[in-house]
Amino acid sequence: MNQVRIGLVGCGLFGESHLMGFRAVPGAEVAAVYDVDSARAREMARVFSIPRVCDSLGELCSLGELDAVDVVTPEELHLEPVMKAIEHGKHVFVEKPLATDLEHCSRMIRAANGAGRILMVGQLVRFETKAAMLKDEVASGKLGNVVSMHARRNRPKALLERYGRTHPVVENSIHDIDLMLWYTGRPVRRVRGYDRKAIATRHADTFWGIIEFEGGPIGVVETIWLLPKPAGVLLDDAFQLIGDQGIANMALFPGSLSFWRDTGFDIPDIGYDPRVHGAALGALRDELAYFCDCVRGGRMPEIITAVEAKNAVRVAMALMESARLDQDVEIKSWD
Ligand SMILES: NC(=O)c1ccc[n+]([C@@H]2O[C@H](COP(=O)([O-])OP(=O)(O)OC[C@H]3O[C@@H](n4cnc5c(N)ncnc54)[C@H](O)[C@@H]3O)[C@@H](O)[C@H]2O)c1
Repeated sequence: MNQVRIGLVGCGLFGESHLMGFRAVPGAEVAAVYDVDSARAREMARVFSIPRVCDSLGELCSLGELDAVDVVTPEELHLEPVMKAIEHGKHVFVEKPLATDLEHCSRMIRAANGAGRILMVGQLVRFETKAAMLKDEVASGKLGNVVSMHARRNRPKALLERYGRTHPVVENSIHDIDLMLWYTGRPVRRVRGYDRKAIATRHADTFWGIIEFEGGPIGVVETIWLLPKPAGVLLDDAFQLIGDQGIANMALFPGSLSFWRDTGFDIPDIGYDPRVHGAALGALRDELAYFCDCVRGGRMPEIITAVEAKNAVRVAMALMESARLDQDVEIKSWD
């Protein structure tokens, strides 16, 4: 199997998850890292035995031995590393959301298409077993036409300190918006968003959105960053899809594995980024493995395309705008 050599930009919390994930991807080798926080980059290089720590983005992107660049910088800072990597002829994996600005999405897609490079966006949930099985079930027609979808994706307030930097619809509901677009295969025509700040100071910590798809299906997305700190529940996620011939229910909480310890209660993540045998398995490993397969085979990702990721950003932006204006927002153009 040909080795895929990767340079990772952004060695924060999820950058570390990626490094754990690549450990479990046969034929993947993270050969260089870069982070504006050079101490963090050096620490990750030491822990994961990565031979090279770069002093700049340009240095990493110009390394001839790299096939691909993995961008795991904060949500608003994806454009520069993605563009620089493509400029240097690298394939790119970029974390969700593709960007927090539609024009940035378009620029990245144009650049990747123009250079014939892969631009794969980390819409991780498409690789989660239950979510992917539901896609097949819907596609088979066994549930009939999709009528209604309801998604909950709530998180502990302890995480607000880091992720409160981005509006919750872009940070978290983007996963469910993407699933709903995937399941219905239809564009969105109108949205209504509601947000509240219970304890957050920057963006909202509470978000509800209603999404009207072309032809009738309705979706409701909910993201609330107020789960009690010591409760031991990291992921309170649920998704219900109702068709005119059946219903599907997915849930991560209550989990199928829990630990009751003297120090407290804990439900570990066993779907997205579970840690087993010193590596990250689950959806994250499968997503990164799929990216490496696409790079190795020189083929464009089909499970998630950059245009689909851009459309999810479009819906998230419209929901945010609707919450701000306190009125419905129509979506007039669609890629
Ligand atoms: N798919 C998922 O389930 C999931 C989960 C968590 C995070 N994410 C996404 O991953 C991305 C990163 O999130 P995180 O949790 O790791 O954030 P983080 O804040 O923990 O890490 C970001 C890292 O990027 C570095 N950085 C900032 N600006 C930089 C720049 N210009 N160049 C290089 N490095 C830079 C920071 O120093 C930090 O180490 C975000 O897009 C986030 O939404 C996805």
